[in-house]
Formats: sequence, C-alpha cells, structure tokens
Amino acid sequence: MDSHTLYVGGGTSQVPFKLYEEGYKRVTTIDYSEGAMESMRRKNTNPDLEFLTMDAKHTNFPSWYFDYIVDKACFESEFCADWTHGAKTYLDEINRILKPGGMYMMISHFSPDKRLPLLEVDYLQWTVLVERQNKPNFSTIPNDENDSFYYLYVCKKADVNKR
Ligand SMILES: C[S@@+](CC[C@H](N)C(=O)[O-])C[C@H]1O[C@@H](n2cnc3c(N)ncnc32)[C@H](O)[C@@H]1O
Repeated sequence: MDSHTLYVGGGTSQVPFKLYEEGYKRVTTIDYSEGAMESMRRKNTNPDLEFLTMDAKHTNFPSWYFDYIVDKACFESEFCADWTHGAKTYLDEINRILKPGGMYMMISHFSPDKRLPLLEVDYLQWTVLVERQNKPNFSTIPNDENDSFYYLYVCKKADVNKR
C-alpha cells in the first residue's frame, strides 16, 4: 500500500509491526516517552518503520502529511478523565497533519455519546463511523454492561474539492 501511516502514542506496542504485515508499508510511530521510542528503535531493523519522540499535541510534521493516523489508547490516556482541557488542541493537530480524504482511526473504551460530541464538530469536518467490538473477558465475573465493548471511531477528513 503506497501510503504513509502515523501510529500516535505507540509506547512499546507491536502495532506498527502488525500494520506493516497488513500492508501499510511506511509507518511512523510517535510517543512523548523517549524511553519507549529508544526501546523500539533498538528492536527495529525495518527501514520503513520509524520511531520518533514527539508530543502528539505539537508535532513537527508538515500539514497534510499522513494518509492514516491510528490512535490506540493515546487520546484516552490523556483525556479519559478530563477532555475539556487539551482535547481540542490534540484533535486540531491530528487534523492539521492528516491529508484531505485521510482517516484518523481511534480505539476507545468510551461510547459514542461521550466521543461523538468531540469528533463530530464543525471545525474538524470529519465524517465519523463507529464500530463496536466485544471486549474479551478473561475473568469468571461477567463484564459490567457499561464496560463490555471497545469502540473504533473511523474519522474521514473531507476531500479538498468537497470543502
Ligand atoms: C495507554 S498507552 C498505549 C500504548 C499503545 N498505543 C498500546 O496500545 O499499547 C498510551 C501511550 O500514549 C503516550 N502518550 C500519551 N499522550 C501523548 C502525547 N500527547 N503525545 C505522545 N504520546 C503520548 C504515552 O506515553 C503512552 O505510551
């Protein structure tokens, strides 16, 4: 796949390697933990994968740079407790570096009534699709009904010629 993908707040997760295996041939991972990125750089031998220390709220990337941005628990680790401070700055930056027609894919524990008011806003002009997945339960106690699902928010940025 001839595209450039950003994995945001990657930590030491294996997701960049999986994305590469799935056909995303150029994957940049960022995290503001230099320890995590250094550990990934030491493990990686693939020149199409890079690991950079950067704050997702203030990146050094040019505007309209990535075709896909994947966010597994980065947004949530910053804003799960309070999304009134900083969430707009974060999402503005994601929108700035995403190409027109590109996709921001966010994996979250939070249900659409909590997340769509942040994602379906006029200043972003994203079309948002939501997919719900059952959360695996490794315990003998059944999941609480409010804690039984993951949500994938697929946010498509408007194409330039459709603005
Ligand atoms: C819950 S961990 C998830 C790690 C990985 N995505 C995974 O699923 O295993 C959240 C990660 O996001 C990073 N993070 C949180 N806020 C960030 C920000 N503003 N910029 C860059 N990284 C951030 C943290 O350092 C941490 O590695």
